[in-house]
Amino acid sequence: MASIQQIQSPTLTAFAEDILQGLSGTPKKLSSKYFYDEQGDKLFQQIMRMPEYYLTDCELEIFESRKEGILQAIGQDHFQLLELGAGDGMKTKVLLRHFLERGVDFQYQPIDISSNVLMELEESLRTELPALKVKALPGDYFKVLHELRGHSGQPKVVLFLGANIGNYTLEQAQRFLRAVAAELNPGDLLLTGFDLKKDPGVILNAYNDPAGITAAFNLNLLRRINRELGATFKLQDFKHWETYNPITGETKSYLVSRKDQHVFIKALSRSFHFEAWEAIDVELSKKYSLSELESLAEQAGFAVQEHFFDQNKYFVDSLWRVE
Ligand code: AVJ
Repeated sequence: MASIQQIQSPTLTAFAEDILQGLSGTPKKLSSKYFYDEQGDKLFQQIMRMPEYYLTDCELEIFESRKEGILQAIGQDHFQLLELGAGDGMKTKVLLRHFLERGVDFQYQPIDISSNVLMELEESLRTELPALKVKALPGDYFKVLHELRGHSGQPKVVLFLGANIGNYTLEQAQRFLRAVAAELNPGDLLLTGFDLKKDPGVILNAYNDPAGITAAFNLNLLRRINRELGATFKLQDFKHWETYNPITGETKSYLVSRKDQHVFIKALSRSFHFEAWEAIDVELSKKYSLSELESLAEQAGFAVQEHFFDQNKYFVDSLWRVE
């Protein structure tokens, strides 16, 4: 027999559950991990092509100009190359192609929660780099890393690129990196992309572009809730607002309610009240100083091996060794 609990609240999806939590709290908060539905993926592709969004160009420049230095710093000629969060692999391909050309014996193992993303990546790699050994690993990063633990005896090189670490607070990043280190062996390597502190104007522009692409990207989260959970968000009643705190390096995105309003969400069978100018916290993109990321490495159990910068020193791919 069904319990009262079950009768009152049929099982919600993880998405519905998170939206309920996030809109019930004070301040309201939604996770940027939900930006990436089909439309969100397309908008993010557009963001990466915007002149204001320097991050992608910087990391591409680093890989193109420093690919041999990165290989030398890895210092091995056979290893497992794991990537946390596969994406479209546009930047990774620069490294993969170079390692192949240099006759390195490695297998590329992209890990992603989305099998769809992995299938598309595998297919493009088959045509663009037919000699590459690829083994896509669908699933949660830590589950997959745990299963790989001690398997091959080969050293591991783990990639965590694109400043994805910036979506974590400093404390979350510490916990995340400690958990990564715990699944690796001494001597294994981690290459992480960090966006660095720089002229605050440059940073704000990257997240507050005049064409409004970033605004559309953030507002798309409300559209997704409308579509998937049957909500009544009117996108024009919310305003994209961006801030940068040059002390903490926290770049934050908000969706601010332009008026006092109620939004009904069918899947949650309830409505949510927004006061005029109440904000929803939707994204953190943390910027680091070099000293801050060096102590992050140390606290998580890594030794910094080498930093690879772009010419402007806007961005760094930092190679760390598990101690
Ligand atoms: C994919 C998380 C690195 O925070 O810079 C881009 C996402 N948000 N523009 C970032 C994003 C707004 C991006 N990351």
